[in-house]
Amino acid sequence: MRHIFINYRRQDSEGYVGRLYDHLVQHFGSECVFMDVDSIRPGADFLKTLEEAVAACDVFIAVIGPQWLTATDDSGTRRLDLWNDFVRIEIASALKQDKLIIPILVGQAQMPPPTVLPEEIAALSRRNAITLSHQRFGRDIEKLVDAIKSMVPASRAFKTQADSEIIQQKRAALKAIQDELLGATAAPLYAFRVENGYFPVLGEGNPDANILFVGEAPGKTEAELGKPFRGPSGDILNEMLSGIGLKREDVYVTNIVLDRPPGNRDPNTEEIAFYTPYLDRITDIIRPAVIVTLGRNAMTFILKKLDLPEKKGKISDLHGKLLKAQAPYGEIYVIPLYHPALVLYSATQKDTLRKDFEKLRVFV
Ligand code: URA
Repeated sequence: MRHIFINYRRQDSEGYVGRLYDHLVQHFGSECVFMDVDSIRPGADFLKTLEEAVAACDVFIAVIGPQWLTATDDSGTRRLDLWNDFVRIEIASALKQDKLIIPILVGQAQMPPPTVLPEEIAALSRRNAITLSHQRFGRDIEKLVDAIKSMVPASRAFKTQADSEIIQQKRAALKAIQDELLGATAAPLYAFRVENGYFPVLGEGNPDANILFVGEAPGKTEAELGKPFRGPSGDILNEMLSGIGLKREDVYVTNIVLDRPPGNRDPNTEEIAFYTPYLDRITDIIRPAVIVTLGRNAMTFILKKLDLPEKKGKISDLHGKLLKAQAPYGEIYVIPLYHPALVLYSATQKDTLRKDFEKLRVFV
């Protein structure tokens, strides 16, 4: 499902917005198109309420008409400059959350340059706009709908849920790999595993998950338990998942390397090469709609493996981006994220990770 939020100024573009809303509802369903945040509870912080409403959308449409920039209140103050202007607050929130923002120009309005906008929404000027006119309404809307469909995946349509028999088969297939891995004496980390009484960590979660998380390698706690992402990183992962309404059982979590490397060092090339076929088999059994990489090493490995044009990119540029890829079983998406361990001591980084997790909502 694609959730679309329409931001507009009533006195500026109401005529267009009604038509726009009706068309979008026809294409995406009424439960997916939001126009007005009309249920702010008494006593609620309205800024927070608006922020949450924006957070829930996949696409943010900002309708800009001829009065959008200059509309004033009764005392002559420009509405965009008022501290409680919903239009500005929602746009600022969408920009801050790095939402897909599509400005729609109506009534022959032009895109305002950044110099005439309040600073917090100046970046809106850089977003490519679509023009909507009453004369070409049908065609303009088609353009908008195509843009939304090509940029935002419709998760449920993307992967059909397997029936219970298939899920059982998938579970059994994963268990067989787990058993094989236990006896994999050729594994470069096998001796270290046995010396320390560790377990290999195949992965854990829903064998038919829509979302597959791939981290780097198990740490000490994970190797002692034979389960991925326990301890502080696991707590962060759980917190982020619950922020988008998911539990660990809803997703599958694994790593590129399935045994603990000594001293938590980065896995080496030989280790990665050894475990790659295992990860391939896991992925092929689960057939996720999206692979979410956790941390730089997992990102580079997966982007190279899927031969994406971004394979040489940096995580600071690619985190939170939705990248289209081709898996052996069909088209999928990859979203690189920072590693949860990185955000343990930084509130700012944690905020970034939280915002990036929002990108996963379309797969929920
Ligand atoms: N870090 C990882 O990358 N994987 C785990 O399983 C735990 C910590």
